[in-house]
Amino acid sequence: MTAPIVVRSPGKLFIAGEYAVVTPGEPAVLVAVDRYLTVRLTPSAHSGSIHSPEFGRTPLVWGRTGDGLTIDTEHHPYEYVLAAITLAERLRSERGLTAHYYDLHIDSGLDDASGRKFGLGSSAAVTIATIRAIDEFYGFGLSRRDAYRLALLATVQVAPQASGGDLAASAFGGWISYRSPDRRVLRQSLDEGASFAELLASPGWEPMDIARLTPPASLRFLVGWTGRPASTARLVDAVRDGSGAMDYPAFLLDSRACVTDLARALDEGDDSATLDAVRRARRLLRRLGRSAGVAIETDALAALCDTAESAGAAAKSSGAGGGDCGIVLAPEDADIAGMLRDWEERDIRHLTLSVSSAEGGAP
Ligand code: MEV
Repeated sequence: MTAPIVVRSPGKLFIAGEYAVVTPGEPAVLVAVDRYLTVRLTPSAHSGSIHSPEFGRTPLVWGRTGDGLTIDTEHHPYEYVLAAITLAERLRSERGLTAHYYDLHIDSGLDDASGRKFGLGSSAAVTIATIRAIDEFYGFGLSRRDAYRLALLATVQVAPQASGGDLAASAFGGWISYRSPDRRVLRQSLDEGASFAELLASPGWEPMDIARLTPPASLRFLVGWTGRPASTARLVDAVRDGSGAMDYPAFLLDSRACVTDLARALDEGDDSATLDAVRRARRLLRRLGRSAGVAIETDALAALCDTAESAGAAAKSSGAGGGDCGIVLAPEDADIAGMLRDWEERDIRHLTLSVSSAEGGAP
């Protein structure tokens, strides 16, 4: 029997640029973390299958629009796996390769043993890992950048709003800066049945940029989890709906300036400018949440960040907010022990994870 193909992809956390990065070309900074989702592919004979103990337990979440029901696909990762398989099989057919069946076994180390999700980007990790496993199976020879691009094309069909920053972090590992492509243009080309050569040459990719950043050498990276979040898709919709009441272009400009300063500070190894930029990014998200009427920084996240700041560190909500994780960058003299005691008293769970190492050379 052929040996199984095993691919593991890391989870991610946002450092800065959330929400703004949904707009094509606006920058964000992300890290990949050292918790992984694994996809194991084995060839099979008469049909393919997808197995996952975690996803099997994941409930299907539904909501309402007017009189209709909507399925919240964000909590239903099989959709991403199916979209990834469908696209990869389309690429196989375009290349004139013989079709085969295979079984996929998914094992998510991004959640805890009871299946509780920490918002580390399991949908992105499973999409990247599925594409890379099928790439290896058929021998497509995709670069990491093209694996990210295929995963993004799969993702826009499930979650059209998603920036894809989590896919880039999962594909490349380490610290990255990211600008999203124009997913509306890409989706249109997909709907029109464009070939892969046409899709990869689409002007929709023009605003996209992925670059490696230098990890801060002497700042500690810590993560706290504040509990079950609201749905990212709903938070992004709520911010979009509420953004009419505010000067959204000004938010985008401020966010761009802040993220650019952060990327520069990291690359120059300037710890104090890095900490300043993270504190500024926190304030920008708080202001965005207040203006749009959306609880991005919940009370628990505010407590997480306030205790970190009192301890001499910089902290902010990470990702869409509304729960989930806050990130902390702490200089060597920060009172981390005091901060962690405070978190424990407030039921904020310290996730003992680190930034994963960069993978696969330059993006
Ligand atoms: C969610 O993790 C981060 C957002 O910027 C949405 C996205 O980038 O897709 C809010």
